[in-house]
Amino acid sequence: MKLDTIICGDCLNELKKIPEKSVDMIFADPPYFMQTSGDLNRSDGTRFKGVQETWDHFEDLHAYDNFCKSWLLECRRLLKPKGSIWVIGSFQNIYRLGYLMQEMGFWILNEVVWRKTNAPPNFMGTRLQSSHETLLWCSPKKGSSYTFNYQTLKALNGGKQESSVWDIGICIGPERLKDKEGHKLHATQKPEQLLQKIILSCTKPGEIVLDPFMGTGTTGAVAKLLGRHFIGIEREPKYVEAARIRISKITPVLNEISRLEKDKKPQKILFKQLVKKGALLAGDFLYTPNKKRAKILPDGRLKAGRLTGSIHQLAAILQNKTVANGWDYWLIKTEKGFESIDILRKKV
Ligand SMILES: C[S@@+](CC[C@H](N)C(=O)[O-])C[C@H]1O[C@@H](n2cnc3c(N)ncnc32)[C@H](O)[C@@H]1O
Repeated sequence: MKLDTIICGDCLNELKKIPEKSVDMIFADPPYFMQTSGDLNRSDGTRFKGVQETWDHFEDLHAYDNFCKSWLLECRRLLKPKGSIWVIGSFQNIYRLGYLMQEMGFWILNEVVWRKTNAPPNFMGTRLQSSHETLLWCSPKKGSSYTFNYQTLKALNGGKQESSVWDIGICIGPERLKDKEGHKLHATQKPEQLLQKIILSCTKPGEIVLDPFMGTGTTGAVAKLLGRHFIGIEREPKYVEAARIRISKITPVLNEISRLEKDKKPQKILFKQLVKKGALLAGDFLYTPNKKRAKILPDGRLKAGRLTGSIHQLAAILQNKTVANGWDYWLIKTEKGFESIDILRKKV
């Protein structure tokens, strides 16, 4: 399987050639089957270019469902058991996709609303402004484990837990690819910021991201930027060419965020290892937050008055709890005053 490539072809044929359980994440931005017809004009009379391309045309809803069933089944086959899939759609198709996916056994982990901060108005004023799209994040089946880089997303969200409503502008400015006449090359080019959040949320560096509807290559560009591999499939040669040029200009940025430093768990260290390694000595004292002492025993347990036990057991008893984390509770005396024993664990 060739990585970091865009295959020019129909995904219904090309997906079949990819080995089963071989990709870590899928982002699918399929035709929406918007069923738009006629010209759409802005209030000043200029024409608004919506999605009227032939790739968005299907005979009817039944034909659309059959198409989606085929590519979704292939995606399910080639997704690794611990992988996950994102699909994006609008009110015209997202309910159909969600229904089909649940029927196939996919398990919806989250529904995410992408609120478009700069959505165009409803020009005629005949309906509400359509200012969001919906994403479904799913694992292959209920109970399967999946990657979720919680701390990385929290860091990107200014230290606050990330929610399921994302405020991101539609793709404009220099990011938007243009044709020779200066018009937008693709009607539905997705913003890179959206793909960054998605890829960072559920992949690790070096993993493989597949996009069966690659369009202008947004998924490939962002995957490369973040140090992930990609495989894209796109039927229209003009988009494939534009996507290849776009991706060739990207240089990976490997930093704390793309490497998921925030989500790296500290190596498991037992308290007795601190004593064994000489970071603390038998006979030294640990202190409670109100400065009561407990003596360290040679086997790494603590003795406080008549009580003896592990750092966790004594922390629980002294706080009247059933369980407690001794690393968060006990202090040592240093030249700075009293500090958490966790600093020694980190040093070791
Ligand atoms: C909604 S757009 C994807 C846009 C893309 N996410 C981007 O940021 O540019 C859907 C794309 O799927 C392509 N497409 C439609 N049917 C396809 C098929 N059967 N196989 C491969 N590509 C297809 C269309 O040409 C179109 O570029």
